[in-house]
Amino acid sequence: MQGSSEVPGFYKLPMDERMNIVKKLTGLPDEEAKVLANTGGLPSDVADRMIENVIGGITYPMGIAVNFRINEKDYLVPMALEEPSVVAAASNAAKMARVEGGFKVTNTGPVMIGQIQVVDVKSPEKARSKLLERKSEILKKANDQDPMLVSLGGGAMELTVKVLSTIKGPMVVPELIINTGDAMGGNAVNTMAEAVAPMVEEITGGRVLLRIISNLADRRLVRATAVFDKEAIGGEAAVDGIVNAYAFADADPYRCATHNKGIMNGVIAVAIACGQDIRALEAGAHSYASRSGKYKPLTTWEKDLNGDLVGKLEMPMAVGLVGGAAKTHPAARAAIKILGVKTATELAEVMAAVGLAQNFAALRALATEGIQRGHMKLHARNIAVSAGATGKMVDIVAMKMVEEKKIRFDRAKELVEKLSKS
Ligand code: MEV
Repeated sequence: MQGSSEVPGFYKLPMDERMNIVKKLTGLPDEEAKVLANTGGLPSDVADRMIENVIGGITYPMGIAVNFRINEKDYLVPMALEEPSVVAAASNAAKMARVEGGFKVTNTGPVMIGQIQVVDVKSPEKARSKLLERKSEILKKANDQDPMLVSLGGGAMELTVKVLSTIKGPMVVPELIINTGDAMGGNAVNTMAEAVAPMVEEITGGRVLLRIISNLADRRLVRATAVFDKEAIGGEAAVDGIVNAYAFADADPYRCATHNKGIMNGVIAVAIACGQDIRALEAGAHSYASRSGKYKPLTTWEKDLNGDLVGKLEMPMAVGLVGGAAKTHPAARAAIKILGVKTATELAEVMAAVGLAQNFAALRALATEGIQRGHMKLHARNIAVSAGATGKMVDIVAMKMVEEKKIRFDRAKELVEKLSKS
């Protein structure tokens, strides 16, 4: 970079002027600046209001996973991500699940937790009792912040209080349990937590520090199940292979991280397409996977009495249809329309089914032929494109590299040069 990264007033400038500064400081060529300035399906003025210091956008491809049948209803599922083979794998898994009727999914309702940290409390246990005695007053104060949510059947439902022993001494932590309806809930929960803080200080005689939502959304769970007919998925060996793959993940956190990553390939791709907070989903998923003190798979796989494979997924799924990018991003709005979900919990259920499907597909491939053959075919197309292939040439170059088992950039470049000459 040519110069200082201190740019006073950068945030006040229009997008194009910010880009000019970036170009000057980094030497970014015009063509590349133009690529960034194109915000795709997101109008630039919307992008500029969505986050700060905007200079442009980055677009992910959105694919549609087909074949999904969830709770007796068919869905076309938009998935946005950069990784080849995920959409194909989800579609393929959903097709196999259809043989036994597709996915069954339930949920525990859109319930989130807001935490309030109280320090310097003289008698923490006494403070705990006093907070619980004044529960209805605290819940009323919380609910006064969002009459709309309350009128729709949501709002603060419960107050629990824990006393933590920490490296800085005891802390009292009242937690608001809030039904956030069709919202992911970040704003509603944080507003309520902040609003009750003065009351909490008065009751406990302590000092409130943090007032924030918890992303360990273990009261907002989804549970998806599917039975996979043994013949449809490659016979007994495939069933046993998948059960063994699950046992490996259950026993070993190194494998488990990758197992859960496969689930999140599906969950997060739908989340991106539908404008969800993917950091919250990842934080929730992995903290929930660790709730026993050991990092565990979010799915389980077993063989039933018929010899068929039964998969189950249980995980937190904090998603929303009102507020956030789900409302402001036109592409996300379109994706939600394609998906046809009417509530946040229905979206959460679809995402759970896709997560389970994705995990099935990965384990089946890993436990049978391995993932590289399918993966490399798709990867070869990407390499062909990055080596300059366009149009029909992409498939010709990719096929040739797969045949030769030389899926490499240098070989792609040679092939592109040869084909361009002929
Ligand atoms: C790759 O993105 C995901 C997998 O590694 C998942 C897994 O190993 O279960 C294939």
